[in-house]
Amino acid sequence: MPVITCIDDLKRLHKRRTPTMFYDYCESGSWSEQTFRENTSDFDKIRLRPRVAVDMDGRSTATKMIGQDVAMPVALAPVGLTGMQRADGEIKAAKAAEKFGVPFTLSTMSICSIEEVAKHTRKPFWFQLYVMRDQDFLRNVIQRAKDAGVSALVLTLDLQILGQRHKDLKNGLSAPPKLTPRVIADLMTRWRWGLEMLGTKNRGFGNIVGHAKGVEDPTSLFTWTAEQFDPRLDWSKIEAIKNMWGGPLILKGVMEPQDAEMAAKVGCDAIVVSNHGGRQLDGALSSIRVLERIVDAVGDKTEVHFDSGIRSGQDVLKALALGAKGTYIGRAYIHGLGAMGEEGVTRALQVIHNEMDISMALCGRKSVEQVDRDMVLVPQDFAGRWA
Ligand code: FNR
Repeated sequence: MPVITCIDDLKRLHKRRTPTMFYDYCESGSWSEQTFRENTSDFDKIRLRPRVAVDMDGRSTATKMIGQDVAMPVALAPVGLTGMQRADGEIKAAKAAEKFGVPFTLSTMSICSIEEVAKHTRKPFWFQLYVMRDQDFLRNVIQRAKDAGVSALVLTLDLQILGQRHKDLKNGLSAPPKLTPRVIADLMTRWRWGLEMLGTKNRGFGNIVGHAKGVEDPTSLFTWTAEQFDPRLDWSKIEAIKNMWGGPLILKGVMEPQDAEMAAKVGCDAIVVSNHGGRQLDGALSSIRVLERIVDAVGDKTEVHFDSGIRSGQDVLKALALGAKGTYIGRAYIHGLGAMGEEGVTRALQVIHNEMDISMALCGRKSVEQVDRDMVLVPQDFAGRWA
């Protein structure tokens, strides 16, 4: 068994053990991938300030996100096709999150359905909603989330249309994969993935197949999004969805203060400062660069969460120091899942927790509430002097 010390170790195993099509789907950004790259490289520009001779006994990473207890402020982000990284991937990730004490967010574009995940878990999870044109589907999926005891709705605002990722087109991404000679050759070296996949019935888009009407190719993510996602989503529709749901609401994908103000005005429990992991608008700033401006704009009106680019516990601390009350990881846990299934997700959470706990202590802080702006050094022009 390889020794796992960091997320990169899991990433290497993920690449080796998962069909290329799905590894590439995870590890890519849109177009030139500039935003995808800068999401991680911009974290390196922020430095942590060590403090010494501070009693670090009895410290804790526990806190709350939207009033719910979390073992650390790190939720699992909604990730489509998670059940193609490993058989029953969403169930495995949800179980790992439940045991660790952090929220799991199920994507609309998941392989395992809301009902399947609910059946295999005991604690409520969060559900991420993409808004579809089909109003019956929309009403129905919100009702299904309620019936499954979902404890927060995460409404994603930055994907009414899909940004292009070159590799997905070249690889012919689909769920399940179409067995072309190239795919078969790839699977020959990843036979354990295939065996596990044969052992489950969860191999299509579980929330959608059998629930939505009028889609020509139910295996293609591109067809789904082009035919079904509602390009007319606007603030009035967001308000209508908020009323339809009636529970805790998180608005995901905000990158500009004006949009953050609108989100706060609609009324939500939190917003997520996110550029979708660099998968939508290529050329946008990294999320970490815009975080502080958004906290300044709406931090007193709504909880501000953060994602895009987190690969370590130190990254989590940097986001908290710049004002985030909670964070999400996407690829960091998917690498764990692709590497080692449920155990790998647990390992990813342990790695991040350990890094966070020790670095927090080395900065002289004993609790998440003590993490403040004073804990980091940020380049003076970090947010940018843009004209
Ligand atoms: C995503 N993300 C995403 N977001 C969402 O709201 N619904 C979804 O179905 C998906 N699907 C998805 C698939 C894959 C493979 C990735 C990597 C990401 C975006 C995700 O929730 C989150 O915003 C990013 O993953 C955060 O960036 P990092 O942590 O991956 O750098």
